[in-house]
Amino acid sequence: MSDQSDLSTILAAGDDPADGWFPESVAADYDNPGGANEAATIMAAVDVLEALADGGPALEFAVGTGRIAAPLADRGVTVSGIELSRAMAERVAAKPGGDRVDVTIGDMTSTRVPGDFSLAFLVFNTISNVTSQDGQVDVFCNAAAHLRPGGLFVIEVGVPGLRQLPPGQDTVPFTVAPNADRGGYVGFDQYDVVTQQFTSNHVSVTADGAGRFYRIPFRYAWPAEMDLMARIAGMRLKHRWSGWDRAEFTADSTSHVSVWQKD
Ligand SMILES: C[S@@+](CC[C@H](N)C(=O)[O-])C[C@H]1O[C@@H](n2cnc3c(N)ncnc32)[C@H](O)[C@@H]1O
Repeated sequence: MSDQSDLSTILAAGDDPADGWFPESVAADYDNPGGANEAATIMAAVDVLEALADGGPALEFAVGTGRIAAPLADRGVTVSGIELSRAMAERVAAKPGGDRVDVTIGDMTSTRVPGDFSLAFLVFNTISNVTSQDGQVDVFCNAAAHLRPGGLFVIEVGVPGLRQLPPGQDTVPFTVAPNADRGGYVGFDQYDVVTQQFTSNHVSVTADGAGRFYRIPFRYAWPAEMDLMARIAGMRLKHRWSGWDRAEFTADSTSHVSVWQKD
């Protein structure tokens, strides 16, 4: 599979390429209501993270606009964040609790912030935004380096959709949404099972037939590979749930919330 993902396909006028795949034009709509921004979805994650922090300070890798970090800080947890995109990070302080989140602009594979944390977390599939195995190992090692002994690292990420791939096929659709006006949206993931690279592909067509197609690059890792990354970083699996409701992780789970503990 050739990788035609190209940052220039999503950049709009005024966007800073240094903000990566989350520049101003994406950040401006990131907090729109619905989906991951539903209060119930956010609070389910915040409930678990608050309990796991157990009164200690927490660090969010790829804090984004503070969707999770701000309400966690609003509960009284001391929260720091690392974020690549200034456009995303600029929105943290405007949320209730967000003015108490200490955000450092940097790359979570290597950026260090002061503190000795009881919890580090990386949610909403964002480990997959790091597109090399070495880079993902670096994320685990950097998380462990911020944790006190016994501290916890949490990842929320989808299970790769490989079981949905029939032989000879490399794409899994996730949304097909035609509009009444003859436009619509189609989204699909395309997997390369040799390299573990995948792209999320987004095709939008307006009523007049004009289209936009862009692809965002990711790397998938099976949960067991993440357990090995954790071991490399000096951590061991403590919990694996299928979601923030702490339901059992099974062969049919489409996502996991995994918790590793620093030795
Ligand atoms: C899907 S958003 C998640 C944001 C937030 N954690 C949330 O749950 O809403 C992914 C975020 O990861 C950030 N990001 C991607 N790669 C990064 C990296 N290597 N270091 C720091 N942030 C990164 C992006 O800029 C973006 O804000």
